[in-house]
Amino acid sequence: MNQEPIHGGASSGLELIALSDPSGVADHVAALLLNERRRRPELPLGLATGRTMDPIYRALALQLSQLPFAEGERLRERWLSFNLDEYVGLGPDDPRSFRAVMRARLVLPLGLDCERVRLPEGSAADPDAEARRYGQELEAAGGVGLQLLGLGLNGHVGFNEPPCAADVRCRCVSLSASTRAANAAEFGGNPEAVPARAITLGLREILAARSILLVVTGAAKAGMLRWILQGPPTPELPASWLHRHPRVMVVADDAALGRGEHG
Ligand code: GLP
Repeated sequence: MNQEPIHGGASSGLELIALSDPSGVADHVAALLLNERRRRPELPLGLATGRTMDPIYRALALQLSQLPFAEGERLRERWLSFNLDEYVGLGPDDPRSFRAVMRARLVLPLGLDCERVRLPEGSAADPDAEARRYGQELEAAGGVGLQLLGLGLNGHVGFNEPPCAADVRCRCVSLSASTRAANAAEFGGNPEAVPARAITLGLREILAARSILLVVTGAAKAGMLRWILQGPPTPELPASWLHRHPRVMVVADDAALGRGEHG
């Protein structure tokens, strides 16, 4: 494994872990998540959806299944996680909702109690009130221990689209055309079919996490990742606010770091 703490200005806590491919990233991140559940079980994990996360949840299920039975059971019983976001208008039974995705990728494979895998309710009658309620529920749980984040092609984290200030709370947001296009695959390839709004934790809740793990894989994100690593923080790149946090680990594969086969 090729571990390289680099980048970031003098005040930045960004630490970079470079791994060769998405499967190496998944194994490493899954081990970090399990370790967090052992070390800090009293605080919830912050979880994300998206293609980047799929191999991570597969690796997590495998690693959990390989633990001694009693230890695995203890981790399952004490599990508590809060997802970043959910589409507005999609109910829990809609397979494209993030709740359904988490049920398929995490709850069932790990054998968790679905009540301990929290998400905002996308089909709530009043999404703004639901966003406030979800933010308060997270706060009452003590805030996030370790926050897992993916990176949007436009620099978003959660569904915090640019421009975005560092102090926004959990709220209802409009999705950009580029995000709806990026997520169209699950909606028959039609960006117009992707919900126009979502509930997302804000940068305030994200930056309040005790530590943060930003995971980036694939060549398509290489340009954006370079901008984020360079800083400085700007509302135009919501992920760049992570420079304001003292404990951020960026786990990326060679492709996302712009290192080709001969690089
Ligand atoms: C999505 C999600 C984010 C996710 C990001 C990257 O729209 N709201 O939480 O991390 O965009 O997604 P992907 O991993 O599919 O590239």
